[in-house]
Amino acid sequence: MNKKKEKNNEIYFYAQENKFSKKNNEIPKEFENKIICSDNLVILKKLPDNCIDLIFTSPPYNFEKLFEVFDESIRVLKYGGRIIINIQPLFSDYIPSHHIISNYFMNKKMIWKGEILWEKNNYNCKYTAWGSWKSPSSPYLKYTWEFLEIFTKGDLKHKGEKENIDITAEEFKKFVIAKWSIAPEYCDIAIKRLKTTSIENKIF
Ligand SMILES: C[S@@+](CC[C@H](N)C(=O)[O-])C[C@H]1O[C@@H](n2cnc3c(N)ncnc32)[C@H](O)[C@@H]1O
Repeated sequence: MNKKKEKNNEIYFYAQENKFSKKNNEIPKEFENKIICSDNLVILKKLPDNCIDLIFTSPPYNFEKLFEVFDESIRVLKYGGRIIINIQPLFSDYIPSHHIISNYFMNKKMIWKGEILWEKNNYNCKYTAWGSWKSPSSPYLKYTWEFLEIFTKGDLKHKGEKENIDITAEEFKKFVIAKWSIAPEYCDIAIKRLKTTSIENKIF
């Protein structure tokens, strides 16, 4: 019993004994330095295993194809590569999407690198269900934030050339605080994500 408990408390125990290959591959030249507008699953399927450094996605809230996309994303990620999922709970339907997705990745032996709470400072939810105004019968909880769940494949450390790191000391101190208060303008949040999780010349 104690041995089992010890085993379950080991560092990222849920992701131990993964079968990920450590051999990373080059991305085919046709995909290099390009913004590709397409169905993500079609493009992902054209990529070789272990060729992408960082995947960032704010996926549609339709779970039909999502897990197939996640499987392909894990496949194409390099050993040591990262995937960031921007997601909020489906609060009105009581579906904890961020937990469901996190469990999915952990079951696939991905290491949970952390979670950023993105405070958007705006509401995106109904105030009440019919009949529950000013009543404790079934109020909605109101979220003004979303989550960014960060996973890494095989290795916590993402290796790269030191001279290509483009984050300043001030940015680093600020960005590693896991609560980002940013109005919902994607540019800024994308820059923060890139700078804290990737290095210049990496494949995104
Ligand atoms: C939750 S929204 C994220 C929106 C995004 N953050 C933005 O600011 O534009 C999900 C997005 O996924 C896109 N989408 C849905 N199915 C897709 C697919 N198969 N391939 C690529 N994108 C898809 C939708 O068009 C939508 O813009």
